[in-house]
Amino acid sequence: MSWREVFLTWRDRRIADPRFQVRAAGLPLIGRLARRKAAQAFDLCAGFVYSQVLQACVELDLLERLRHGPQSVQHIADQTGLPVMGAERLLRAAAALDLLARRGPGYGLGETGAALLGNPGVFSMIRHHKLLYQDLVEPVEALRQRSTQTQLARYWAYAGQEHPGDVTTDSVSAYSDLMAQTQAFVAAEILHACSFRGTRHLMDVGGGAGAFLEEAGKAYPKLSLTLCDLPGVVPLAEARLSAALAGRQIHYAGRDMFKDCLPAGADAITLVRILHDHDDDQVRILLRAVRDALPKSGRLIIAEPMALTPGAEAMGDAYFGIYLWAMASGRPRSRGELTTLLNEAGFAHVRERPTRQPLLTRVLQAR
Ligand SMILES: C[S@@+](CC[C@H](N)C(=O)[O-])C[C@H]1O[C@@H](n2cnc3c(N)ncnc32)[C@H](O)[C@@H]1O
Repeated sequence: MSWREVFLTWRDRRIADPRFQVRAAGLPLIGRLARRKAAQAFDLCAGFVYSQVLQACVELDLLERLRHGPQSVQHIADQTGLPVMGAERLLRAAAALDLLARRGPGYGLGETGAALLGNPGVFSMIRHHKLLYQDLVEPVEALRQRSTQTQLARYWAYAGQEHPGDVTTDSVSAYSDLMAQTQAFVAAEILHACSFRGTRHLMDVGGGAGAFLEEAGKAYPKLSLTLCDLPGVVPLAEARLSAALAGRQIHYAGRDMFKDCLPAGADAITLVRILHDHDDDQVRILLRAVRDALPKSGRLIIAEPMALTPGAEAMGDAYFGIYLWAMASGRPRSRGELTTLLNEAGFAHVRERPTRQPLLTRVLQAR
């Protein structure tokens, strides 16, 4: 064992000793640290309950109802159909979590609640978490074997599919809506991090219903655009983009990106929230296909939440790690892991383009 390991093992034994914990809580500096750690440990134990409070607020449209100012408990109970006692219990819980705040005799928004209201896509995300929770009812069982018989694998109709090219528009529309609703902030981050000035033709692979291309097209009116996704998804993109970018020529490519080659002609390709959805072998195939579709001077932009993001570690390996396991496809990757995969596929000059909200997405650019 290294000296560091010897020290850490000694430290862990101390922390795990109940008598040490009692003594430490009474010491001036260590006491503050001990209380912070105790609160963190409590939040971990209680996390499911907190999430259910949030879920109830979203299902009852509580934050939206309080958008324009506080309401009395009685009024909220009438509006939501809850009995007053049930409403009061929920309102107090939501206030303790900063979703709401006590205001005079009633309740208004808390800062966290107000922040959530600024990102409407997050409510669809929270609603669809019901599927994830069902898949995690028995977490150890879920971890014994990755299964495609989960709620999330059914929701993401391409996950674990041998022939994803055959999935119907009906079976992709729920996830395509969810992705479109949660795209606004992601697109803003990408367009803030990367300039497409000097780019002639942008192809968004796995572009879904076209929400990112819509923003890119609006920001760069002369950019030629191609959207590539499964044949079942393309009609959704056509419907959206023909209205949002009317008069603009847009190419659509209905492909299975792992089996069919990608159309050539773009000098920049984006993969927005794509790679983390797939296992390493598929990612290798896709990155090679992207490289083959690009000219020598071409540029690939990868945007997705990443593992080991400083200050947001739980988002990567805890949230996405478990979510993608339940979905039976993919894993979150760190910048280093993505760089290795990019280099293996023949890309060079891999650089991170900093985003303002790395929790939401980070951006890598490669040549
Ligand atoms: C997580 S969604 C991301 C959508 C969009 N880029 C966004 O950020 O909103 C993944 C997208 O990849 C597409 N996809 C999955 N497997 C595919 C495949 N084999 N070929 C083409 N597209 C695929 C899905 O249909 C879906 O639109």
